Amino acid sequence: MPTLSDLPRGWGILSLTPREDYFDLWNQIRDEAPVRDAGEGLFLVSGWDLVNRVLRDPAQLAGSGVSRGFGGPDNPVESVVANWLMSQNGETHRRARALVARLFTPAAAEQLAALVRERSAALVAGFIDEASLRPANFAGLVAQRLPSEVIRHLFAIEPGEWEEQVQPLFTTDGLQTGDGFAAVKGLAEYFHAKITAARGQHLGGIIDQLRAPDRQGGHLSEAEVIANAVLIVTAAIDTTAGLITNTLLRLLEHPAAMARVQAEPALLPRVIEESLRHCPSAPSSTRHAPQALELGGVHIPAGSDLFLSLAAANRDPAQFPDPDRFDVDRDCGTRLLTFGGGAHFCLGASLARTEARLLFEALFAAGRDFRLCEAPRWRQDNPSVRSPAGLLVSCQRNGPSVEEPA
Ligand code: HEM
Repeated sequence: MPTLSDLPRGWGILSLTPREDYFDLWNQIRDEAPVRDAGEGLFLVSGWDLVNRVLRDPAQLAGSGVSRGFGGPDNPVESVVANWLMSQNGETHRRARALVARLFTPAAAEQLAALVRERSAALVAGFIDEASLRPANFAGLVAQRLPSEVIRHLFAIEPGEWEEQVQPLFTTDGLQTGDGFAAVKGLAEYFHAKITAARGQHLGGIIDQLRAPDRQGGHLSEAEVIANAVLIVTAAIDTTAGLITNTLLRLLEHPAAMARVQAEPALLPRVIEESLRHCPSAPSSTRHAPQALELGGVHIPAGSDLFLSLAAANRDPAQFPDPDRFDVDRDCGTRLLTFGGGAHFCLGASLARTEARLLFEALFAAGRDFRLCEAPRWRQDNPSVRSPAGLLVSCQRNGPSVEEPA
């Protein structure tokens, strides 16, 4: 059992993300004190009702956690971070979110379904060829590539340009500590150069949609267009890749669930919801408390930051009976906090769910048995994401094996 005595102070809490005992540790933190002073002005909130309340309370401001994660207000990417949705609040956020949300309706996610199906089939075919011969890395060959392809398509960037100029800005092997500054700075410079070179002409893809005014003539500033383009790239790819990799890992660890969903793909949406609850790829969010407040009987001074453990909230036994069990018959209803809640609820939730569903439909249509060849190596490069950096899997045709002739 992990111990809480050596819990890191303040924002050092993010260093827990790649730990093997991550969920046990957060269960313990929540059960001991659902609100805990972590020191250095940071409070950990981990009970479901309290996390849910803070997420939906407009008095608790989004943004400071993101900025602190990048080294505080003097960091070199502050102007980008300050202009994206996750840092805005109140009327400024409502106005900008309405403009960005036009791109991410459930109908828009469905419109992408044909592309997602086609890319899933191609990625799965390549993976199966490889994994039939030797253990192959599902995370790198499939899970990371599908959302990357979808976002490239949304921005209408040619494959060569994406591979040479965009992907290297944010892709690592997952095992080195990543440089968040460099990724945000590089992406912001890339989008700025593209918009400048277009000199007001159309670029194609969602940059044009981000720049388009609404019916009342409201529009995003150029700084907001660039910042939200960077946010979409950084928020959409690793999280969705994590959802896909974590789901396959859970199914490989639970063969009965794997057999059921392979026989009955209609179960997939529920399997994906349970995976989102049990092992969220983005396991935390943050808020800033400009005024003092009482939370769970704890006094939180004005100016404190709140670290919201979505992972611990999703395993709160008061909401989810037997919460550590991966139970594909569970109905999470609307209690899942993996995509946040309230004004900042994830804009890509429908898209992420659609990608995961269609990818697993393609994977299971291949009629193979999959086997985990090695314990997963957890990503070290991005403390906001918990998922394996590598997942070595082999496969063979399913059904009874053919006896060799004597
Ligand atoms: C499994 C995949 C994903 C997970 C787990 C996830 C999780 C989250 C979380 C926890 C938040 C913060 C919510 C809050 O603090 O209230 C968020 C915000 C956001 N996400 Fe996602 N996300 C995922 C995929 C995506 C995708 C695919 C996109 C875009 C295509 C996206 C775009 C955004 C944006 C733009 C915000 C900021 C919304 C705002 O501040 O108003 N996310 N996401």
